[in-house]
Amino acid sequence: MVNEKLKSLNENYINQSWQPTVDDYREIAPGEDLMNYSFNYSRMVDGKVTIITGASDGMGFKMAELYAQHGAKVIMIARREEKLNDAAQRIRDKFDYAEVYPYAADIMDPEKTKEVFAWVKEKFGRLDVLVNNAGAGDPCIPDTSDDELIDWYVDLNLKAPMRYTREALKIMLPQNYGHIVNIGSINGTRPLCGSVYSGAKGGLNTWTKSVAIRCVGTNINCNAVCPGFTVTPLSLNQESNATETGAAKKARSVDYLPILHKKSTRNVPTFPIDQAHAALFFGSDLARCITGQIVNVDNGQYL
Ligand SMILES: NC(=O)c1ccc[n+]([C@@H]2O[C@H](COP(=O)([O-])OP(=O)(O)OC[C@H]3O[C@@H](n4cnc5c(N)ncnc54)[C@H](OP(=O)(O)O)[C@@H]3O)[C@@H](O)[C@H]2O)c1
Repeated sequence: MVNEKLKSLNENYINQSWQPTVDDYREIAPGEDLMNYSFNYSRMVDGKVTIITGASDGMGFKMAELYAQHGAKVIMIARREEKLNDAAQRIRDKFDYAEVYPYAADIMDPEKTKEVFAWVKEKFGRLDVLVNNAGAGDPCIPDTSDDELIDWYVDLNLKAPMRYTREALKIMLPQNYGHIVNIGSINGTRPLCGSVYSGAKGGLNTWTKSVAIRCVGTNINCNAVCPGFTVTPLSLNQESNATETGAAKKARSVDYLPILHKKSTRNVPTFPIDQAHAALFFGSDLARCITGQIVNVDNGQYL
């Protein structure tokens, strides 16, 4: 499984002295894992220990449901415990074999983050997939973004996934296996609405590529799925974020829909299941040779 040659090439790469020879490639190419490769298409993440943030609602919930359907052991993260437990129960009711573990945590809390990963390591001894999904947007323009708002949205959309990734890599690198999937936004490449949000999601795209580069030569990949307008409580602004600061709450009181409809070239929304399908693919071994990619799932809204 663990290819020693690949491992040493990666270490040399990190030390900036990567000069593989033809013989190196000969040794890697027919790796045993390739020769024995088989894949269960109806249980795409069978047995994979998976953390999904923002899993009690919107697209994160659909991802948790789909991963559980495909055999994963899903650790579902969100802040509101009761709502999270309800969400987990709905998944168990739908698939009696589902292995879901609701864990109430705020991804913006650094200490809680360490606690989450320590618990996963203790309980499962490994971590196979991390889906950094939780996030939220601001419809503000740059010159009206005060410090409080900037701090809030950068923390939520960029710093928190960075910390989750770092903690995940502490487990994934020694086991030489893992898939990291960041849920960005088409706003991270071309801002349609939101300014701090777009900046943070753009940063998440670059972070995705940085992590991918760090993991070249290992069995760990990192990609970003970037939704366009997707029908969820967030985009319909049906629910205010439970512990948002005053500035963030004010920003979210703006109705998204007219802004999106005015600015996007195509107004065909996607649904949480569309994002979940992409997240499942990138979290599965089908995507093992794909890394550092930023993939829009947006019905062409970006075009
Ligand atoms: N919907 C869209 O049109 C759209 C478009 C582009 C990109 N996106 C991105 O897609 C991702 C998911 O969006 P969504 O529309 O599905 O959101 P959503 O419907 O608002 O769901 C958000 C989920 O995240 C959890 N959450 C929020 N803040 C959290 C925190 N600090 N710590 C832990 N959990 C937290 C919420 O539960 P609690 O409140 O209980 O914590 C909930 O489970 C986000 O990254 C968003 O930026 C969405």
